[in-house]
Amino acid sequence: MDIRPIGVFDSGLGGLSAVRQLKALLPGEDIVYFGDTARVPYGTRSPETIERYARQDCRFLLDRGVKCIIAACGTVSSVATAALTDLPIPAIGVVAPTGDAALAATHSGRIGLLGTTNTVRSGAFHRYLAQKNPDVQVFAQACPLFVSLVESGWIGQDNEATVAVARRYLRPLIEQQVDTVILGCTHFPLLAPVIRDILGEGVTLIDSGAACAARCRDLLTGMDALNGRDVGGQCSFFVSDHPHDFEAVASMFLGSPVGDNIQQIDPESLVL
Ligand code: DGL
Repeated sequence: MDIRPIGVFDSGLGGLSAVRQLKALLPGEDIVYFGDTARVPYGTRSPETIERYARQDCRFLLDRGVKCIIAACGTVSSVATAALTDLPIPAIGVVAPTGDAALAATHSGRIGLLGTTNTVRSGAFHRYLAQKNPDVQVFAQACPLFVSLVESGWIGQDNEATVAVARRYLRPLIEQQVDTVILGCTHFPLLAPVIRDILGEGVTLIDSGAACAARCRDLLTGMDALNGRDVGGQCSFFVSDHPHDFEAVASMFLGSPVGDNIQQIDPESLVL
């Protein structure tokens, strides 16, 4: 048994999709979330910068005494894997759990991948999937505008701008007749209703937040490191820019008020 909290980080709000799933799967666990809202997006930055930010984010969570870390960021998980392997505690990235879920779901072997520009460019999902099953074909689409839409809370099916952007991004995947689509960025599950409307019910969407949360549960169970409670887990939220927008949008994403349990930290205080 391990009563320490689970650490989760993302470049911004998207990682809350993993927190929501974690709260549902492990309602007794305490969670510390860090959203690097001052430096979002990571998805268009250089690999060196992403790795430095990822190491600083992990350091921040380690200093809060977490027992494991979920890098709830497709970009970090694809580009900065070294930052997740050099840690004294286990870390879970998005690629393996999400890739495994996609392989389990596909019937045709035609898998779509939606991610940030850097995630797609890194080829991390392609490599992982090809190594697990050389017969699958992966069709990737970078969707950088999705991140801003989610960070702005523009996630509704009635949002014309969001629907127009989504139609444009999803067209190539429809043409390739994929049967499974990896939402390879933790922001994208928040757009799942819009994406599902366009792709139709015949296409399975793989939620990276859900896949990470399930992997975390399996990991902690295997290590006998759950905290032994069935209810009552507390979440603490840290952000690196003013928390006002975070509070409004985060409460919407989590389905419950975040309240005043948010602390702003100075991004200059993030160290390696
Ligand atoms: N959280 C990032 C990811 O999952 C998307 C936002 C960003 O570009 O920082 O890839």
